[in-house]
Amino acid sequence: MKPTLAPFPATRLRRLRAKPAIRRLSRQHRLSVDDLIWPIFVMAGKDDEHAISSMPGVTRKTVDRAVKAAQEAHKLGIPALCIFPYTGMEERTEDCALAWSPDNISNQAIRAIKDAVPEIAIMTDIALDPYNINGHDGFVENGRIVNDRTVDALVKMALAQAEAGADILGPSDMMDGRIGAMRKALEAEGHIDVAILSYTAKYASAFYGPFRDAVGASAALTGDKNTYQMDPGNADEALRLVERDLMEGADMVMVKPGMPYLDICRRVKDMYGVPTYAYQVSGEYAMMQAAIQNGWLDGPKVMMESLLAFKRAGCDGILTYFAPEAAKLLNRM
Ligand code: PBG
Repeated sequence: MKPTLAPFPATRLRRLRAKPAIRRLSRQHRLSVDDLIWPIFVMAGKDDEHAISSMPGVTRKTVDRAVKAAQEAHKLGIPALCIFPYTGMEERTEDCALAWSPDNISNQAIRAIKDAVPEIAIMTDIALDPYNINGHDGFVENGRIVNDRTVDALVKMALAQAEAGADILGPSDMMDGRIGAMRKALEAEGHIDVAILSYTAKYASAFYGPFRDAVGASAALTGDKNTYQMDPGNADEALRLVERDLMEGADMVMVKPGMPYLDICRRVKDMYGVPTYAYQVSGEYAMMQAAIQNGWLDGPKVMMESLLAFKRAGCDGILTYFAPEAAKLLNRM
């Protein structure tokens, strides 16, 4: 289809920008509360919250506070929460056994939230890093991150989360073969409706720094994650990963980080047309909040513009720490 453009002045592209009502009518992409997944951090304890200094406005919450947050999110119309556990150095071990304990803080939070707010979907994170003595997403043997033994552990973790009541599992580890192994185990155990949102194209990014503070992994991490997370110079590889994950049974795919990788979101959506999500990660959030706090950027405006960009790039939804704030604005619009 060729676009038709009558010569000026018959065509004046400013006509459709002239009035708010006409702009609304002709707007191609919009953000809705239905697009939001809110990542929250949970920690042990009672009725308490700790600020995360590199993520202004975000706190680690005890399970009872996380339940309150879930109730608030549900009232705001947010369809899903994503739970991340904070673990202290003393809880981390080489065998990472806490990762698949039914009673770890993440599984406690899943149960408590499902009990109190059954309507809200709960997404999880599957990777060993919160439980690993060295902060890596997989087991380390002789200085190398080993794949297949890690996948076995991730499957146990997935089953424990499904058992606790999770609706969407989020493998963020970037091991090979994990989606197929998890799907097979979930089916075998009767968890046929538990979905997998794979962190499919997850880059080895410097934008995760504040998150690692939030979950207590910064101090633990030895070395980098370059042997399993994607190289920022690669784009075609993201498509191979999407194809692989879909063939192994992923229901939804994710690109992470978000704003520096919008080109990848667009290519994934165009090529596969599957439910595609972006993670606006901690560093993106921190960067904007720092400028907002300095008065250099207009908070609400820059937040909404950054989220709309994901919709324009083809995403069906966004994991964002701005979720409750954005939902409040969207509900007022
Ligand atoms: C861990 C995990 C990370 C994030 C989500 N899951 C960090 C990492 O891979 O080191 C990052 C989220 C963020 O930065 O907001 N598997």
